[in-house]
Amino acid sequence: MTTTPETAPAPTPTDPVAAFAVERREQIAALGRDEELRRRSVEWIMRATPNRFTYNFSWMGRPVIQFPADMIAIQELIWSTRPNVIIETGIAHGGSAVFSASMLELLGGDGRVVAVDIDIREHNRAAIEEHPMSRRITMIEGSSIDSGIVNRVRGHVGDGDRVMVILDSHHSHAHVLAELEAYGPLVTRDCYLVVLDTIIEDLPAGFLSDTRWDKGDNPKTAVHAYIGGTGDFEIDRAIPDKLQITTAPDGYLRCIRP
Ligand SMILES: C[S@@+](CC[C@H](N)C(=O)[O-])C[C@H]1O[C@@H](n2cnc3c(N)ncnc32)[C@H](O)[C@@H]1O
Repeated sequence: MTTTPETAPAPTPTDPVAAFAVERREQIAALGRDEELRRRSVEWIMRATPNRFTYNFSWMGRPVIQFPADMIAIQELIWSTRPNVIIETGIAHGGSAVFSASMLELLGGDGRVVAVDIDIREHNRAAIEEHPMSRRITMIEGSSIDSGIVNRVRGHVGDGDRVMVILDSHHSHAHVLAELEAYGPLVTRDCYLVVLDTIIEDLPAGFLSDTRWDKGDNPKTAVHAYIGGTGDFEIDRAIPDKLQITTAPDGYLRCIRP
């Protein structure tokens, strides 16, 4: 094959750390271009969903309703962007709040999680309160888009905080868009706004027959509506490109607000 300037590989840096970073970028870009892999990944997710794949994992003893790959990605983001406040909507059994709190524990410092759920079951609240990570977690019960709840969350954010937000509650377009408008402005530059379950848009209409959200009405449609109206975030496509098995295609948003 003839090598043209367009097809020639980028020169490999002599520094092995820089060379590894270049290699990774190229590998991820190739994964992102592989439409067949993307199709098979969605097919894999569809095959695993009826058996409630995401419900079968725990973090430090608390059930967490996530794809393991998304947890690795969120771990990378917490480590690299070093937030000291993580706001989460959707607590359920507490696994994701405990996960975020445990990452903040590893970072050192006084990082804290502010977590909101409309229905914190008594047994879950008790287990979270007894958990070794509980001193870093504040739970707030109520709808994440209720103005009183939003104000209470805002009250936990101070000047100079570095804030990350993870949305994983009610997955309708209207609800997630309202969450994005309420919590997006709290995210600080270079930190991430993670919107989970955007994958619903990539599944066939009616596939999730037992839910109130569907193709055309889900977190991904909300992300696109929100991104279209704000210059504050850019979609980090390299993350879903490398994960493939993710609930959050187009759901990893990097804050670029000055
Ligand atoms: C998918 S689960 C959250 C999973 C959790 N983030 C984890 O990773 O383990 C969704 C949660 O959102 C909560 N929820 C539903 N509607 C809500 C609302 N309007 N406001 C806040 N939370 C809500 C539900 O009670 C449920 O616990």
